[in-house]
Amino acid sequence: MVYQSGPDRKCLWDNQKAVFYKCRSRAYDENRHRERVTGADEERGMLKMSLVHYFDEVVNRRGTDSKKYSVYPEDVIPMWIADSDFKAPQPVVDALVARMQQGVYGYTPISERLKKADVDPEWVEFVPGVITGLICAVRALSQPGDNIVIQSPCYPPFSDLSDHNGRHLLRNKLVLTGDHYEIDFEDFEEKCKDPRTKLFILCNPQNPTGHVFTKEELTKLGNICMKYHVIVLADEIHQDLVSSGHKHIPFASICEEFEQNSVSFMNPSKTFNVPGFRTAALQTRYSRMQFMIS
Ligand SMILES: Cc1ncc(COP(=O)(O)O)c(C=O)c1O
Repeated sequence: MVYQSGPDRKCLWDNQKAVFYKCRSRAYDENRHRERVTGADEERGMLKMSLVHYFDEVVNRRGTDSKKYSVYPEDVIPMWIADSDFKAPQPVVDALVARMQQGVYGYTPISERLKKADVDPEWVEFVPGVITGLICAVRALSQPGDNIVIQSPCYPPFSDLSDHNGRHLLRNKLVLTGDHYEIDFEDFEEKCKDPRTKLFILCNPQNPTGHVFTKEELTKLGNICMKYHVIVLADEIHQDLVSSGHKHIPFASICEEFEQNSVSFMNPSKTFNVPGFRTAALQTRYSRMQFMIS
């Protein structure tokens, strides 16, 4: 991680993704971790810092307009909503403070980084939240009375968004087998076969089971959906939070047919603990779908 020095200090991501977290219990002392960079970086006036994150720092969030801490009395530890009590990483805080201090908050262009990604910026639509995006997609791509397949147990807003929009929810139950969940493909196919089934909400990694779908599982699910013309809405909000030994595979990355038959949803909010910013995006390569949703 490299920081630019001087009054206009901002963080530059190392290869856009390298964030190194290390647990320390001492108070944060930036200078302790600052070291001069040699060679070309030094000539450009760069300072290198080892990135330290204090996971055991307690932040008192009561009385700070926090939804999580406004529902239950003080003697209850609220664990009902998915924002954690860790501070966002220091580079995120620094970048925000620098931006806030500018004092002008106008429209922003599509970032240069996005233009360099594998994804065409034309396929991306920014939305306030994944759930808002899912609601737009459900309303654009199905009719009241149509079926939506989900896998249960599921994140409760999936059933709410279906009920509130007059859709019928079909639950493909995940089967607890030993210490992991398995998919009942036969049941999944039965549900997709129904001509009123128009959408499947895939949640990968799955909330709440934590199941990270393998390529084989995704391929099997995707093929069933293709066979019965069921569009896949892939909620991949937890994609960065997989335990070792598992790998998140974006559904749309498997093949072009799946990419064209799906809409993917993402948000940096879980990874960097910034859910209050409403920074989600949906991505789809099928232009008609893009048009209908936007
Ligand atoms: C699977 C899943 N999808 C979506 C959300 C909410 O996303 P957003 O705040 O972007 O609407 C959550 C929040 O916990 C979640 O667990």
